[in-house]
Amino acid sequence: MEEIRSYLKHEVPRDLACQIASYVRIQWPFLLDRGNRLWDYSPRPDAPVHFLMLDDEVLISHASVNHRPVEVGHQTLNVYGLSAVFTYPAFRKGGFAQRVVRAATQHILSSNADVAMLFAGQPLRKFYTVCGWEPADSARIYYGEQENPTLKDDNLVMMLFVSEKGRAAREILQSQPVYVGKQTW
Ligand SMILES: CC(C)(COP(=O)(O)OP(=O)(O)OC[C@H]1O[C@@H](n2cnc3c(N)ncnc32)[C@H](O)[C@@H]1OP(=O)(O)O)[C@@H](O)C(=O)NCCC(=O)NCCS
Repeated sequence: MEEIRSYLKHEVPRDLACQIASYVRIQWPFLLDRGNRLWDYSPRPDAPVHFLMLDDEVLISHASVNHRPVEVGHQTLNVYGLSAVFTYPAFRKGGFAQRVVRAATQHILSSNADVAMLFAGQPLRKFYTVCGWEPADSARIYYGEQENPTLKDDNLVMMLFVSEKGRAAREILQSQPVYVGKQTW
């Protein structure tokens, strides 16, 4: 029987962490690259939260949420990101990713986030829209070295506007360049 569980990163049981890391190594090889550690168990006050759809020992679907401060206009917003959304192939098209993304989105909506972002291929526009996310087609999100940042232009940008402050920054987020840090989400 499937169930969703959530864990702070450093509290994910090792057998489940291995299943997350194994998927990530194949789908997004640049994330772990050639490193020889599977999981970072150092406790952090701002630890990412992992959402797992499980059937007993088996990981079906996953998403993670983390956050960081980002300068937007003349203010700092608490920007959350949704990443590493996946369903193991045997379980696809069963609605599992949608349930995991809804749980992660609910977590963001009840957090201290101002705004949240995710980056996805165009075919997933509807998938995330039905989970409450909005496409931000005119947004220009930059990452990498701050002095010479790279425009994230290979993916659809989607956002959630969570707080009053975040909603007030909607225009700026959609029209002005925003640098989010060394990596996106
Ligand atoms: C994208 C992915 C997470 C979807 O997982 P899933 O468990 O099959 O998704 P769901 O069954 O919850 O799908 C929900 C809806 O999205 C649609 N959908 C799912 N994957 C889709 C895709 N690749 N393209 C277009 N629509 C898709 C489904 O058809 C379904 O629509 P419906 O409700 O109208 O039938 C899965 O295909 C995957 O792991 N892909 C590889 C990793 C990846 O690309 N992750 C996304 C990173 S942003």
